[in-house]
Amino acid sequence: MLNFNFYNPTHIVFGKDQLQELDNLVPKDAKVLITYGGGSAKRTGVLAKVKKELAKSQREVAEFGGIGANPELSVLMGAIEKVRREKIDFLLAVGGGSVMDGTKFVAIASFAEEFAGKEEALLNYGFGPVPVESAVPFGTVLTLPATGSEMNGFAVISNGEDKLPVFSPFAFPKFSILDPVLTYTLPATQVANGVVDTFIHTVEQYVTYAVEGRFQDRTAEGILQTLIEIGKKTVDEPEDYDARANLVWCATMALNGLIGAGVPQDWNTHMIGHEITALFGIDHAKTLAMIQPAVWKVRKQQKREKLLQYADRVWDVKEGSEDERINLAISRTEEFFQSLGIKTRLSDHNLNEGDIEKILNALEKHGMTALSETGDVTLDVSREILKAAL
Ligand code: NZQ
Ligand code: ZN
Repeated sequence: MLNFNFYNPTHIVFGKDQLQELDNLVPKDAKVLITYGGGSAKRTGVLAKVKKELAKSQREVAEFGGIGANPELSVLMGAIEKVRREKIDFLLAVGGGSVMDGTKFVAIASFAEEFAGKEEALLNYGFGPVPVESAVPFGTVLTLPATGSEMNGFAVISNGEDKLPVFSPFAFPKFSILDPVLTYTLPATQVANGVVDTFIHTVEQYVTYAVEGRFQDRTAEGILQTLIEIGKKTVDEPEDYDARANLVWCATMALNGLIGAGVPQDWNTHMIGHEITALFGIDHAKTLAMIQPAVWKVRKQQKREKLLQYADRVWDVKEGSEDERINLAISRTEEFFQSLGIKTRLSDHNLNEGDIEKILNALEKHGMTALSETGDVTLDVSREILKAAL
């Protein structure tokens, strides 16, 4: 097992009706800014419920809506100015990954006086921590299980055609309320996105090379098997509590640092996927479903041992030659995504060979020229992956 440094301070409150805990979780004397997305929080009534809970104590509460999917720096600037102007001292994100990520950025940027007027520079640190000393404290009320943002210190922020990661140890939520019932209103395609994003977060930290991380492997396999068991059910029967509760908890556990501690991590699929979202506006998870199978086809040799383990333990594929078992596991994975209504080819989204160079140019611009768990995915290998995904 590799050395690791695991830190996760987020308090999770899980289950039905747990919004009632808000009054205990948010400091009673706080001046709170509720952040939300393009309107679903209003439409579904969750925003009104949140305000009702916060009103149980004499807090001042303000709102900032309009943080749409793939949160844009220019939109977040409005919230940053509001936090500074109104001396907000607690943020409460009500939404999915985009609202939570956007709120993390607001929490960091509005506190960091040294970045005032040059907030864009906070996007230049990649996966390394941004150089800040603290952030405005914040909590989240999750409405979309997918990204794991509710229990990690990452955000992904869009700035025109750039979609960039931001990390800080101060960007972990103080708490996250995970009530699966609040996710019942999601359209089926967003639930399917959540299953696929969670699946791919897990394999990015599992289908790499073996380092005797037995706990991490078994936990990853447990998440994958759970998703295979409940994935279609929770898309087709949105109000089945137990299926949805399992999705919510898998999504959180897949990207809170636990399964990635002490093992190699890939993230090749995510880095290519982010460029596709930035260039063509395709949902995050839908980009991953196109790229992941192609990564395995192209890097079958480098990932052979773990792909065989994945075939055996996740899909129960035990017969045939090594290549046959790996190929079967890859096609089972694609069929699983397709069974949820998620397409697995670039051409399914009307992308063609000509678009590949645009994606490669964006990867080059962002320094994504040595991707994967071993750094061997050059632009030429990314080209091969994209061609295999056509
Ligand atoms: O904007 P509103 O109107 O709220 O609608 C949203 C949005 O259109 C809607 N929605 C959310 N909860 C709902 C709901 N509609 C009905 N009922 C509800 N309960 O769903 C749509 C998608 O929401 P979004 O937050 O964009 O989706 P997701 O949670 O998949 O987040 C995607 C973003 O997270 C980033 C992605 O890159 C993307 O920007 N990621 C963040 C990560 C992290 N912080 O660790 C890791 C991930 O790999 C990912 O990169
Ligand atoms: Zn993801």
